[in-house]
Amino acid sequence: MHRGAGRARYGTALVSSTAASLPDSAVLAASGRLAAAGCPTPEADARALAAASRAEAGAGVLARFDSLVARRAAREPLAYLLGRQTFRGLELRVDARVLVPRPHTEALVEAGLTLPRRARVLDLCTGSGAVALALVHERPDLRVSGADLSPDALAVAGENGDALGLAVSWFESDLLLAAPGPWDAVLANVPYIAERDEPALAHEMIGHEPPGAFRGGWDGLDIARRLVGQADAIPWLALEVGDEHAPAAAALLSDHGFADVTTRRDFTGVERVVVGSRPPAGASLS
Ligand SMILES: C[S@@+](CC[C@H](N)C(=O)[O-])C[C@H]1O[C@@H](n2cnc3c(N)ncnc32)[C@H](O)[C@@H]1O
Repeated sequence: MHRGAGRARYGTALVSSTAASLPDSAVLAASGRLAAAGCPTPEADARALAAASRAEAGAGVLARFDSLVARRAAREPLAYLLGRQTFRGLELRVDARVLVPRPHTEALVEAGLTLPRRARVLDLCTGSGAVALALVHERPDLRVSGADLSPDALAVAGENGDALGLAVSWFESDLLLAAPGPWDAVLANVPYIAERDEPALAHEMIGHEPPGAFRGGWDGLDIARRLVGQADAIPWLALEVGDEHAPAAAALLSDHGFADVTTRRDFTGVERVVVGSRPPAGASLS
């Protein structure tokens, strides 16, 4: 009985020591602070930051939590503070070197899943490597490469590939200029935020994510236009586009010789991906 009571006291002491270092009242207060700062999901964020602070070994849980809450109140993306984002079931490491992968980008991956076996695929503008890694994970037969203009982003993509044990070749390229291929397919989530839309962006994006990952010029299509202009030798191209860009992007692909141009909707119903293919070389259209 004595030993049993001892174990019970020990267990209680452990629990209360952890709770005392980060009491529920602190999490509640943090939630209020995040709500006042305009964070859209303050309660969930406060709980996630509390869990992250508690999970780290060592003393100073409350100080860690306070620091994370202050950064979140300054609208740093939650994913950067946690250092990770889940995308199609893969846990990706993310930080300020890359755009946080968005759930609507799953529509681009879904387009890639329709490709024939063993296709040579380039995920252009790969950022964290989300699209390339999801494709290899779900279709190990595809031969996938990932390219980006930013060496910082490629470092993150490479770390993600290594951590997940997924084989993707990464390389630096300004769109297709240093990506000779040959490619059977190119998928690209190019930067596509129009200048005029920047004032309406979430603070998380405009204040913290890399501008080179989202700025798409005056109408948001500058980079898409450059890419399509370089894509004469690309038989199949899928472009993620902004909320109202699908008709203009579809016209762009048709104007550059892509036939059978279709769009795919994301999970919110927005036309998010424009896909074009070229007739196989030697095929007659007549
Ligand atoms: C919208 S993010 C997409 C990141 C990732 N594919 C995703 O879906 O989460 C755009 C990416 O394009 C890269 N980028 C911007 N301009 C580029 C260019 N001219 N050539 C190649 N990559 C470029 C940025 O560095 C950034 O990583």
